This record gives sequence, structure tokens and C-alpha cells, in this order.
Amino acid sequence: MTEAELYTVYKGMYLPTTLHPPESLKYYEDFTFRPDDILIVTYPKSGTTWMQEIVPLIVSEGDFTPVLTVPNWDRVPWLEEHRAMLLNLEERPSPRIFATHYHRQMMNESFFKIKPRVLHVLRNPKDVFTSSFHYYGMASYLVNPGTQDEFMEKFLDGKIMFGSWFDHVKGWLNAEEPTLHIFYEEMIADLKASVEKIAKFLGKSLSAEVIEKIADKCVFKNMKQNKMSNYSLVPQEFMDQKKTEFLRKGIAGDWKNHFTEAQEQRFNAVYKDKIKDVKFKFMWD
Ligand code: A3P
Repeated sequence: MTEAELYTVYKGMYLPTTLHPPESLKYYEDFTFRPDDILIVTYPKSGTTWMQEIVPLIVSEGDFTPVLTVPNWDRVPWLEEHRAMLLNLEERPSPRIFATHYHRQMMNESFFKIKPRVLHVLRNPKDVFTSSFHYYGMASYLVNPGTQDEFMEKFLDGKIMFGSWFDHVKGWLNAEEPTLHIFYEEMIADLKASVEKIAKFLGKSLSAEVIEKIADKCVFKNMKQNKMSNYSLVPQEFMDQKKTEFLRKGIAGDWKNHFTEAQEQRFNAVYKDKIKDVKFKFMWD
């Protein structure tokens, strides 16, 4: 099916209509934040699900109950998804934990006024591309990616859901809210140190033992076993995990196994041009 059939255009971005019907976009526009809310911000395929596991465990101080009993999409709901309207988020005790794929300039009035805490996860866009390419091939609510060359042009041009990776990242790097920018790659390199860093940002002082317990629960091979986080509860007609698993590889640098030399050059040229004004040092550069 085509973009016109599967997507809604909202604030200039494609959003898959099945997940984001107009009433849920309106719900988010009217949503009221609290100062102690925790908002996980990601461009899709940058480590959202991973954070939906880590942050609740930090808040619960290592109690596994939330991650073993509640699916990730209800545990840390996306504010732009239809589930958000059904979960009585107004009644949730603080600190509430949410996720969003919105660009910063798409955020609502309450966000800019209240300035909740933001955890912004960044991932090498080449790996985001590779992860997305597989995901678009298995999710029925997304437009089939076509060939890798075809999908690369759409990705570089921001003609996919949630628009351009470059614009998303640039917007959030300019955040004026209390923000922790954390790399997927640094979480891969040292998950314990990353858990500690996130906990510190959230004002949680956890023992070394609890940090170790959380990190162990959240390593790829263990998270893959958690049916509340590995999307095995989603019917195959929506996500065909026989084609590709949602928790697919969980590594940094998988793009090297998929890009041709020409694709690498094409990606590098666009990347260089689009981030030329960014002062921030990316971990993968
Ligand atoms: P890959 O497709 O490269 O494996 P999101 O949750 O934002 O959609 O991102 C999904 C990506 O994060 C997938 O990447 C997935 O495997 C990876 N991921 C999820 N949990 C992870 C974990 N515990 N460790 C490492 N990577 C993880």
C-alpha cells in the first residue's frame, strides 16, 4: 500500500494512521505535562523499547514488576499513539514516564511551559536506517520499503514516518528543557555506566548492586526473552516477526553488513551536508 493509503500528514510529517488516528493527535495537543514527568524522546529505531525497560526499572529501584507485568507500550506510552487516550494518564502517580517520536517543534504548549525532563536517545543514523529498513518490511501499517536504494532516498529525504532524522536530532539538540542526550552506542559500550548516568539525571541514587541488576535485566539477550517487551504480544498481521524480529540484532555498526560502497558514499555525502552546522559531537563520527 502507498503513503496516501497508510499515512496521515500531520505538521508536515508522515504518521501511520492506524497508530495515530486524528483523535489521538488531538489528545496529545491538549495533554498537560507535570514538571516531574519523564519524556523519552527518540527518532524511531534509536532505542525506544530499550529505554522503556530501563527507566521504569530505575524509577522502581530495581523492582521487576513493571517490566514483567505491563507491555512496554502501556508501561511507557507514546503520547501520540491511540493507546495514550485509553490509559487514564491523568490519574497516574508521579513520576509518569512517556515516550514520543515527535520533533521538538511539534510539542504542545504545555510541554514548553512546564519543561518536563527529557531523555533524548541518539543512534548512528546508518544503523537507524538499517533497523528501519527491516522494520518497514515486517510492519503492515508501514509502506513497504522497496529496495535498499529506494528506501535510502526516502530516509535521507525524510519521506518516511516522523520525517527526517536530521531535523529530529537538530531540534532536540537545541532543547531548553532539562535534557540528557544519551547515545545508543554508549549504552552498548557500557550499560551499567549508562544506567547510572540516567539514574543520576533522574535524581535517583541507586546502589551498585541495583544498577548491576537493572543492567543485567536490560541486556539484549535478556530483554529479548521478556514477552512484555519483545512485541510477541502483537498479532502477526501487524508485525510479522517471522520476517524480522523486533528485537533484531541490538548492536552498533550493523549497517556495515548491509551497505554497498556506493550507498555508504551517498549516505556520507548527504549526512555531511545536513549536519554541517551542528556543533554537537556525535559518538559515531
Ligand atoms: P536493531 O533493529 O538494529 O536490532 P526502537 O525501540 O526505537 O524501535 O529501536 C529498536 C532497535 O533497538 C532495534 O535495533 C532493537 O534490536 C534495539 N534494541 C532494543 N532493545 C535493545 C537492547 N536491550 N539492547 C540493544 N539494542 C536493543
